[in-house]
Amino acid sequence: MYNVKILGAGSIGNHLANASRRMGWNVTICDLDPAALQRTRDEIYPMRYGQWDDSIQLFNASDAPRCGFDLIFIGTPPDSHMNLTLEAIKEKPKAILVEKPLCTPALENTDELYRLAEESGVKIFVGYNHVVSAAADKAIEIIPEIGSIETLDVEFREHWGGIFTAHPWLDGPQDTYLGFWQKGGGASGEHSHAINLWQHLARNLGAGRVTEVTASLEYVKSDVVDYDKLCLLNLSTENGLVGRVVQDVVTRPARKWGRIQGKDGFVDITIGSEDRVLWQAGNNPQEEQVIKKTRPDDFIAELKHVAGILEGTQDNNAISLECGLDTMLVVAAAHMSNSTGQKVLIDYSKGFSAAALTTVQTP
Ligand SMILES: NC(=O)c1ccc[n+]([C@@H]2O[C@H](COP(=O)([O-])OP(=O)(O)OC[C@H]3O[C@@H](n4cnc5c(N)ncnc54)[C@H](O)[C@@H]3O)[C@@H](O)[C@H]2O)c1
Repeated sequence: MYNVKILGAGSIGNHLANASRRMGWNVTICDLDPAALQRTRDEIYPMRYGQWDDSIQLFNASDAPRCGFDLIFIGTPPDSHMNLTLEAIKEKPKAILVEKPLCTPALENTDELYRLAEESGVKIFVGYNHVVSAAADKAIEIIPEIGSIETLDVEFREHWGGIFTAHPWLDGPQDTYLGFWQKGGGASGEHSHAINLWQHLARNLGAGRVTEVTASLEYVKSDVVDYDKLCLLNLSTENGLVGRVVQDVVTRPARKWGRIQGKDGFVDITIGSEDRVLWQAGNNPQEEQVIKKTRPDDFIAELKHVAGILEGTQDNNAISLECGLDTMLVVAAAHMSNSTGQKVLIDYSKGFSAAALTTVQTP
């Protein structure tokens, strides 16, 4: 059994609290805003999961207990993640799970975090839960059957109305980080699950890491917001795979989908209220596996993965700090490519800060 401290009593804080309780873990939730703590106890948690759980302890962030936690989860807005993670390392938990996106596109303190994580031995996970899903595992299992790989596509296209339905206390993107790409919002940050899933599949295809990014973004800029509503990326990897990612906050109904196209077949993955994997290999008929799940299942799978890595029963850490940093490099490269009109190269030998990104003129 683990003792868990969750920073942020918002939407994800509640999901992680509930998933932790279902794992039988002790939970303490902290928030800067007393109204968020009250909302958690009186509204979000009971409305989502049936009833409030009296064993969950709630604290104002200023009075939050320090140390003695096995796991610390950071479920606050992206522009606070890095500082809170650096502080959390000092408490010496076994692990920290930081929500996606790991940081802002400025990539502040990324190298320092990587160094401190290595030195301290605190395992850091980044909350891209879709890559530890049964659907992602199934898609990867089928890869050997579809021949050599031609291309890879992933799209997370979803109007963000659903997010505001889950946050009725917000009037719109202007009230939160979502309305500001520089704070980690917009399509590029909010739906960076798509970039992350593309990278996960590329790694498992043997294509390696993303080395080239050419992107086109459409921003919405006014007195009260500055975010990208559409983020289109063309990606190439170190082993020559070429493919595409699309993320937007305007598409409805939502389409969260990926395709691995091989010479002898394909695998499609669709993420939704139930996940689906559809494939065809050689001359065999198409097959489909539907993975029934509830929203809490997404986070239980994620916490099982974290526990498995810590306990040595799981060896492939798809939500490692490195994976989360790799995704942020691509998000940052996307904004850079759009603003310069050039292709951006990623040089991993330069670490995880903006120093790893350079532009080249696209012919
Ligand atoms: N993996 C997923 O599927 C998923 C789902 C939802 C949200 N998220 C991510 O989780 C993060 C939070 O999103 P959300 O929708 O829960 O936001 P939210 O606005 O609902 O909640 C964030 C909470 O953090 C609190 N907070 C801010 N700074 C704090 C601090 N220093 N200490 C303690 N509390 C602090 C705020 O008061 C707020 O209550 C974002 O990065 C988002 O992208 C991920």
